[in-house]
Amino acid sequence: MLDQLHEMETKALAELAASQTEAALEQWHVAFLGRKGALTELLRGIGRLSAQERPAFGQEANRVKVALEQAYEQRAVAMRQAASQLQLAREQVDVTLPGRPVGPGHEHVSTRTLREIYDIFAAMGFQVVEAPEVETDINNFQLLNMPPHHPARDMWNTFHTTREGLLLRTHTSPGQIRVMRERCPEPIRVILPGKCYRYEQVTARHESMFYQVEGLAVGERLTMGDLKGTLISFSRQMFGPERKVRFRASYFPFTEPSAEVDIDCVLCGGKGCRVCKNSGWLEILGCGMVHPNVLRNGGYDPAHYTGFAFGMGPERIAMLKYGIDDIRYFFANDLRFLQQFV
Ligand code: FA5
Repeated sequence: MLDQLHEMETKALAELAASQTEAALEQWHVAFLGRKGALTELLRGIGRLSAQERPAFGQEANRVKVALEQAYEQRAVAMRQAASQLQLAREQVDVTLPGRPVGPGHEHVSTRTLREIYDIFAAMGFQVVEAPEVETDINNFQLLNMPPHHPARDMWNTFHTTREGLLLRTHTSPGQIRVMRERCPEPIRVILPGKCYRYEQVTARHESMFYQVEGLAVGERLTMGDLKGTLISFSRQMFGPERKVRFRASYFPFTEPSAEVDIDCVLCGGKGCRVCKNSGWLEILGCGMVHPNVLRNGGYDPAHYTGFAFGMGPERIAMLKYGIDDIRYFFANDLRFLQQFV
């Protein structure tokens, strides 16, 4: 039995030296040191030895076991080192190679459009004011003439937060309330740009996060004529002096009367195409005279003050201006798209 043990040891060491892969190493371990391996088989035969022979065989079998385990460990370490040397050699990096040039950054097309909008309104005396993106239901809806359960709330698919009464603003119009309450009884001429959020199906024209620019003017004698003059001037500066502009009656709970502004289609020039759905017109914003209830909620007496307001989507405006056919490009971070607006 001792001879068998030594033969097994010699064979095991020879096979171990010959194994080249981790799989072969594992097979070796199973074959010689595993539960059904050669050493275990030999140990099972210990019962056939005489009582005098057993201790010597047991001791020798233990030595062989330890020797084989150690040899296995050494071989595994050597194999891992060889593999990592090979990998290092293969993946060697030539640090002297010139890197890929990193181009200078530039403003995002949304920022660029926003800045164009600011410039046009700044020249007309409008000041830029910011308002929070997390709003109260009161400012976003109630003070804008939409009490709880008002059906017009369905026009804005809302992201509510876990805090009762707090939501992600669905439009920049709650900023109107904030500015009026802060400045009353001063006259107001502001634009309020910022991000808005809607729980919407994302499509080529709808994002769930997008910018809006709100406009608000409050004074003692402001009329629908002032609103029209301001927005016609804006549209011609933004899209070119040749653009036709039309006001179409519409509905918003916080303005009365309300309108939407269309420009003649920038692609077909008003003849009718796929983009303008053959109407010849493209909508650019919503607007109206501030509703007396909203003026009152802002602290202004509607008997003495009037106001006009408007809200536009800069991404939609950029789409028209630069011929972009899908709003999803704006926030997809694809450099191939963004670099077209350097
Ligand atoms: C409003 O949000 C009103 N607050 C606008 C307003 C302000 C009216 C003041 C009267 C007085 P509306 O839901 O139509 O209206 O949105 C205004 C503009 O935001 C749209 O014309 C469009 O340009 C842009 N917009 C709306 N929804 C999206 C969207 N999901 N993705 C991108 N742009 C959008």
